[in-house]
Amino acid sequence: MSVDVLLGLQWGDEGKGKIVDFLAPQYNVVARFQGGPNAGHTLVFDGQKHVLHQIPSGIFHAHISNIIGNGVVLDPIIFKKEIDGLLARNVGVFDNLIISKRTFLIVPTHRLLDAASETQKGDAKIGSTLKGIGPAYQDKYARHALRVGDILSKNFADFYAKLLKKHKELLDSFGYDYSHLPALEEEFFAAIEFLKRFQIAEVEYTINKSISEGKAILAEGAQGALLDIDFGSYPFVTSSSTMAAGACTGLGVAPRHIGEVYGIFKAYCTRVGSGPFPTELNDEIGEQIRVAGSEFGSTTGRPRRTGWLDLPALKYACMINGATQLLMMKADVLNDFDEIKICTHYELPDGEITDELPMDLSPESVQPVYTTLPGWKTDICGIKEFDALPQTLKQYITFIEEQVNVPITLISVGPDRVQTIIKHPELLSL
Ligand code: GDP
Ligand code: IMO
Ligand code: MG
Repeated sequence: MSVDVLLGLQWGDEGKGKIVDFLAPQYNVVARFQGGPNAGHTLVFDGQKHVLHQIPSGIFHAHISNIIGNGVVLDPIIFKKEIDGLLARNVGVFDNLIISKRTFLIVPTHRLLDAASETQKGDAKIGSTLKGIGPAYQDKYARHALRVGDILSKNFADFYAKLLKKHKELLDSFGYDYSHLPALEEEFFAAIEFLKRFQIAEVEYTINKSISEGKAILAEGAQGALLDIDFGSYPFVTSSSTMAAGACTGLGVAPRHIGEVYGIFKAYCTRVGSGPFPTELNDEIGEQIRVAGSEFGSTTGRPRRTGWLDLPALKYACMINGATQLLMMKADVLNDFDEIKICTHYELPDGEITDELPMDLSPESVQPVYTTLPGWKTDICGIKEFDALPQTLKQYITFIEEQVNVPITLISVGPDRVQTIIKHPELLSL
């Protein structure tokens, strides 16, 4: 059996958590392969809302092994809080969660360094979630980071002290006041002890054995293609590979084992944090989308920037990820619009019209070219069957499929697990 990958095709928050949870009954394993507590994946079912940051979104299904892969950076303090929240809701976690020994650790000083770096950048700040993601991946690639497997060593405190020394040299240069550090460290070491209660293993073996045994595996991405370290709107990106290829390096899975690549996108666009956003709406339409879509960050609560769907960006994301099918989220958010715009091309400074995504997405380099389609002006939140959707929404879906040349197999019409319409059950193997 192969590993299917589910990932965001925009700037994150497309609805990955909802769909992983929705597809989970068909899978035996759900594995996170990159990112860390910068992610906020929301699941809504049985009248309850859950937001997961580091725990895979298959955790609510008792039959699923949930794996945190080596590509992830894990904050033990946030992990403990998440687990405590799940235990309070009687969700079993000890038997069906496995953490890779090779997963990298976020230590308290990573968060301090993240904040210091953003302050130093001033107006050019990335708008990081300040969870220590950038500094943790920097240490990984500098080859002196700590990994989850290290916590099992009797020398862990020494390893930590060595890393702290490096971090203090940097923090000193920012003039950091260390008065809060002892309290953070106390919390950190308590969380490390808690982490030891979980299964910590060489999960690349677990996953590859599952593949040979014919088990179905779903790799859950965090962030989105346009936040990818290589292909996103650099430097306004995250520090990991958010792509389908990231599932290979972040779990220890060979490329030949990748099966379906589910690409998730919203019927419009959002972005949280700084950086270019060609179709951004800084007007009352943008505000209408923000309110209708409750577009406020799941991790930081920040208002998300909003704009029309950007097809050059979507095509690019499909290309670099090899998306085999598209899942369109939050169609209901556009229920009340007379007209809906879609950006089909960009105009470049020399007047050339292109549907390709250039490296520089600033307003000086690209201007969106729009097509206007009629809105559906119908409340679609309670619709269960594709055939019952308004004709104008079907026209919107067909237009996107024809432009991007990848089938849309699922349409989401509300946050709840049950507000999900399947267009091609055979392609989703439902
Ligand atoms: P993720 O990071 O990709 O998992 O997405 P988030 O959870 O950060 O953000 C998606 C938000 O949209 C959450 O609040 C979801 O509950 C909500 N959501 C998901 N799908 C739909 C949908 O089809 N319609 C509406 N209105 N909300 C949705
Ligand atoms: P999910 O998985 C949306 C954004 C931040 C910032 C940039 C870098 O929920 O889709 P970082 O903390 O990684 O240094 O921030 O990336 N960002 C996200 N935006 N959804 C996310 O995750 C994000 N994770 C990071 O806002 O612009
Ligand atoms: Mg999110």
